[in-house]
Amino acid sequence: MPKLIIDTDTGSDDAIALLMALAHPDAEVLALTTVAGNVPLDQATRNAKSTLRVAERTDVPVYVGCDRPLVHPLETATEVHGEDGLGNANLPDPGINSQDEHAVPALVRLAAESNGEHDLITLGPLTNVAAALAIDPDLLTRFRRTVIMGGAPDMVGNVTDMAEFNIWVDPEAAARVFVAPGARVMVGWNVSMTAGLISPEQRQAMAQVGTASGQFAHDVTSVVEAFCHQELGIPFFSLPDPLAVAIALDDTIATRTQAIGVTVGRSDEARGATFPTHLNPDAPATDIVWEADGDAFQTQMFDALRALP
Ligand code: RIB
Ligand code: CA
Repeated sequence: MPKLIIDTDTGSDDAIALLMALAHPDAEVLALTTVAGNVPLDQATRNAKSTLRVAERTDVPVYVGCDRPLVHPLETATEVHGEDGLGNANLPDPGINSQDEHAVPALVRLAAESNGEHDLITLGPLTNVAAALAIDPDLLTRFRRTVIMGGAPDMVGNVTDMAEFNIWVDPEAAARVFVAPGARVMVGWNVSMTAGLISPEQRQAMAQVGTASGQFAHDVTSVVEAFCHQELGIPFFSLPDPLAVAIALDDTIATRTQAIGVTVGRSDEARGATFPTHLNPDAPATDIVWEADGDAFQTQMFDALRALP
């Protein structure tokens, strides 16, 4: 049973992803580390705690991380997720204290304690992970693997023509992560826009599950549904982080992958692009997910919403 460390910039899709990890019968969430991204750090941390409160898992420790990218100023995505990052659900204070230890040394410690058995799942900009790599360059080799929601390997981005948000927000951090030794899986925007799409009827089904978690998942996705309908012109919205967790917890969901190096763009024009390449000697292989089983993803998600309080 993999033990999970989840790094999150807790917006609406992160929240559902956290619920799925907390509910999975074959996984144990050891810790959450928070990072600025979708929303400022304090809000991301509050949202992670609100999610633990809904799942009645206030035992899971929350470590607060970096409040801005390594180089660029923070750019949030409140237009996608709502001002509070959770669909403007305006949830009450979750009443959970953060750990005293900063997320970056906590990641270094948790990796050292992993004995190659724990999985790191990243759902936001890679700032915390890059900072931890500055302390321990072999960080990722100490986990069984790192599953990253991020990137646009087909060069179809969601922030710029070619860049996905998590990588675009902190390209310097991402560049450091994709050249680090260790097993790594990329669940990118490409597969999020195929296997990760949710219809309005499926969002309504969340509220009909009959649990507080199902209602929470429905409520926090109100803004992202409207944003995607408006921006994409299709009556669907994407749940990238839940898809990444589903793949992390069930290898059969990733139906086509490719092991290849990834170069991260850092120039103005190519900021945050993730170029698959055989030509970067510094980039060890990343398993890029090109196709995934959307039905199996949704089954795992709804099973989780039913299993939780
Ligand atoms: O591009 C989608 C990713 O950026 C997701 O992780 C979403 O939560 C935002 O962090
Ligand atoms: Ca996220």
